[in-house]
Amino acid sequence: MRLVFLGPPGAGKGTQARELAREWGVPHLATGDMLREAAATGSRLGLEARRYMDQGALVPDDVIVGLMRERLARPDAARGFIVDGFPRTIAQAEALAQLLKDHGQQLDVVIYFDVSEGELLRRLTGRRVCRACQTAYHLVFAPPTRPGVCDKCGGELYQREDDGEKPVRIRLDVYARQTSPLLDYYRQRGLLATVAGEGSIDVIRQAIRQTAGG
Ligand code: AP5
Ligand code: MG
Ligand code: ZN
Repeated sequence: MRLVFLGPPGAGKGTQARELAREWGVPHLATGDMLREAAATGSRLGLEARRYMDQGALVPDDVIVGLMRERLARPDAARGFIVDGFPRTIAQAEALAQLLKDHGQQLDVVIYFDVSEGELLRRLTGRRVCRACQTAYHLVFAPPTRPGVCDKCGGELYQREDDGEKPVRIRLDVYARQTSPLLDYYRQRGLLATVAGEGSIDVIRQAIRQTAGG
């Protein structure tokens, strides 16, 4: 099972990938989470990436492709994976195809989360994320049991720097210009499946299971 979750910021990629990866026993490879972890440890890569991320811009392709090359070479990725937040440019998609080919693999399906812009804005502005395990909550749509505390690990919830109004506008614009061309790219290759990304988290999860299974 080799899946890509594709969609705009706030579409619910991380929320769904985290649970389904656990269910299916495959790693959840989220480039945004990897970069935030690197930034939290203060590594050079992390600190450099953060300059782009906090503004809502994309981190350069060569940095991201290098990160994914290392990650996909680890043994747990040999059985399959869910990639979330990658690829985000045509160049990254080409690099991913080549990386997989080098391992004698290819993608099974790219699942596109279809969500309207108004809904994305509501989700991003109310999101809170666990500093320790990066589980996403929402003040209204998916609140934690105790305010400010992660249900899963007890970690502290915080608001991502790039969930402010200005970076959100930039991220949506970057998505439209640089990432949305991937829809046609994967459609032409017969890999694209669209899931309606609005509605209850459980109903969407079931739709993804069906799409991934058949
Ligand atoms: P990244 O962390 O990947 O952010 P993103 O793509 O902008 O996506 P998000 O994480 O914001 O949204 P999501 O779809 O995961 O939504 P979530 O499940 O949290 O990337 C961050 C930055 O890193 C980039 O801007 C860039 O700088 C850099 N980067 C990363 N990858 C890169 C790459 N490949 N190339 C270059 N740069 C890269 O849900 C959102 C909210 O909605 C939550 O509050 C959640 O609780 C709520 N929610 C979820 N589902 C529902 C539902 N069904 N109904 C109501 N609310 C819901
Ligand atoms: Mg995410
Ligand atoms: Zn947590």
